[in-house]
Amino acid sequence: MLKSKHLIGLEHFPISDLNKIIDTSFKFKEILNTESRKSILLKGKTIVNMFFENSTRTKISFSLAEKRLGADSINFSASTSSVKKGETLKDTVQNIESMKIDGAVIRHGHPGSALKLTEYIDGAVINAGDGSHEHPTQAILDMVTLKEKFGKIKGLKIGIVGDILNSRVARSDIFALKKLGAEIVVCGPSTLLPGDAKRLGINITYNLNEVLNWCDAVIALRIQLERMHLGRIPSKREYHSEFGLTYEKISKLKKDIVIMHPGPMNRGVEIDSKVADSDNAVILDQVLNGVASRMSILYLLLGDGDIKL
Ligand code: CP
Repeated sequence: MLKSKHLIGLEHFPISDLNKIIDTSFKFKEILNTESRKSILLKGKTIVNMFFENSTRTKISFSLAEKRLGADSINFSASTSSVKKGETLKDTVQNIESMKIDGAVIRHGHPGSALKLTEYIDGAVINAGDGSHEHPTQAILDMVTLKEKFGKIKGLKIGIVGDILNSRVARSDIFALKKLGAEIVVCGPSTLLPGDAKRLGINITYNLNEVLNWCDAVIALRIQLERMHLGRIPSKREYHSEFGLTYEKISKLKKDIVIMHPGPMNRGVEIDSKVADSDNAVILDQVLNGVASRMSILYLLLGDGDIKL
């Protein structure tokens, strides 16, 4: 069991809980590799997946994780609900809560919405991304992928490239990597890098080749095209030329590095297809590990004991 009742973010999450989730993810990966791919560890539990913002990977991954654990799950999309008629978050979740649920997964555009939800419902709350605040389950699946690839996280050199300022993935990855003892360098245009790098305990560079030559693994972030109108980058073409992971840049490196991306990718902007589809890329492993990680998170927050395989 975990010390925490909810998973809202990794900044203040106990390291023992983080390690337990990561280690248990590997046990669930073993279950996913069996013929049935199923267990009944959460039989009788009801979980509601509340998505107030678009998602492909996270939404499907949570649904699949719940099915693989034998839980009953309900999917709620704001775009087809009474939220469209003006119903508030509080009224929406209190109505759902009154139908007797054990846990809620929430994605919402506003930072702090997952924490707010803990005030309205009794069950466990899992943050599936809240605005530019945190995306803890993405960071956990990234840690599982790194540990699977390198056998450890402590001492790894990790580069994170792109829009660090607005990225909930970058924030959660930084908190997780720092807790687990990795070194981090972030890279991107000055307009997209955080002003509090010192507080976050990370180094900054504006030179992509420098970070690529230094790191063991690089995480390319999605350029949020919906923010292009803010003028933080001159154009997609210039961004690609300075900060895009191109085959030319990667093939010149003296050692192989692991390529990661949380998705969705803008091919030809932050990453070229030849790099995203290369043997060094673990992008689809990240997706599979997302199911195992979310099974681990759900089981440890809602289940009744340590998993025995
Ligand atoms: N990585 C991620 O959160 O993807 P989705 O937005 O598709 O869920």
